Amino acid sequence: MPDALRDVREWAGQPVTETPIKGGLSHRIARLDAADGQRWLLRVLDPRVSAAGLGIPLEQEIANTVRAADAGVGPRVLHRMPGALLLEYLDGVTLDADAVRALPEPVASACRRLHAGPRFVNDFSIFRKLGEFLALCRVHGLSVPRGYEDRLPSAAEIERALAADPLPTVPCHNDLLPQNFIRCGRQVRIVDYQLSGNNDPAFELGDIAAEADYDPDLTDRLSRAYFGGDEPRLTSRVRLNLIMSNLTWTLWFAVHHGLLREQAADADFDYDAEAADKFAQAARDLDDPGFGRLIDDVRGRAPRIPHPPHHHARRLA
Ligand SMILES: Nc1ncnc2c1ncn2[C@@H]1O[C@H](COP(=O)(O)OP(=O)(O)O)[C@@H](O)[C@H]1O
Ligand SMILES: [Mg+2]
Repeated sequence: MPDALRDVREWAGQPVTETPIKGGLSHRIARLDAADGQRWLLRVLDPRVSAAGLGIPLEQEIANTVRAADAGVGPRVLHRMPGALLLEYLDGVTLDADAVRALPEPVASACRRLHAGPRFVNDFSIFRKLGEFLALCRVHGLSVPRGYEDRLPSAAEIERALAADPLPTVPCHNDLLPQNFIRCGRQVRIVDYQLSGNNDPAFELGDIAAEADYDPDLTDRLSRAYFGGDEPRLTSRVRLNLIMSNLTWTLWFAVHHGLLREQAADADFDYDAEAADKFAQAARDLDDPGFGRLIDDVRGRAPRIPHPPHHHARRLA
């Protein structure tokens, strides 16, 4: 941090003071105030995060941050330093889960703007990420929630179903927890491109819904706001990705806890409890009797249980 700050002072040609921002789980983030009143955001990237596979390589994150700014969604990149970024300070309100539940339409429209912008420099698949994390857990002997491996066939089933009729990939953030949204007036902006990459837009939406504890109705409302319709093919696609978010990010916490112990202690956050909670939610949704219908919907198959014929007859009567 001191080196980056010295670099910013030199770049700005004036005194700059630094106020650390708590809340991020991975990096050191600070608000900088310059003597002339300008305000910036300093993001010093912790190389251990990408080294542990918990984030994309720094160069990719920086390139994608620039592109997200070009889309009008991310903060502008004002100055690059080795391992650190000086960003536009977004003067707004960081969202929490309640706010993300209250704002599905503005959140969907921020995603649409991001997704309509320039493609990112890398691709991202939640299924490959799950595989990487699992390999890390095995190599390092990290503990995963009991019963985790029993769920892997369901993840493979979801992947096959989504691949049967794929959507074109778009530049996705892939880690839209509430704290990565900042409301500035009527617009919602998006920060923190640590896991960004071109991906299925349905993952973006399912991930938002998972992170803000959306119920199925609110998840469908987010899908409608984004896609402009409520075809089951799309709403069910989002619901399946919600499950994949919980299932995969369970391991993010297991890996973070296992490999970045010292940093985890600093962050004042219960990584193990978070992993257990995400896994419990994924297990609940996989065991739900409606799971099979979600799979059928995205494959474009007829529902397993046809509507009873008298239903139609009564409407005609
Ligand atoms: N450009 C910005 N302008 C204003 N606040 C920001 C900006 N970037 C981040 N923040 C604030 O700092 C917090 C942590 O930043 P973030 O980039 O998400 O770090 P981490 O990777 O550690 O999660 C955000 O939740 C937000 O409140
Ligand atoms: Mg963040």
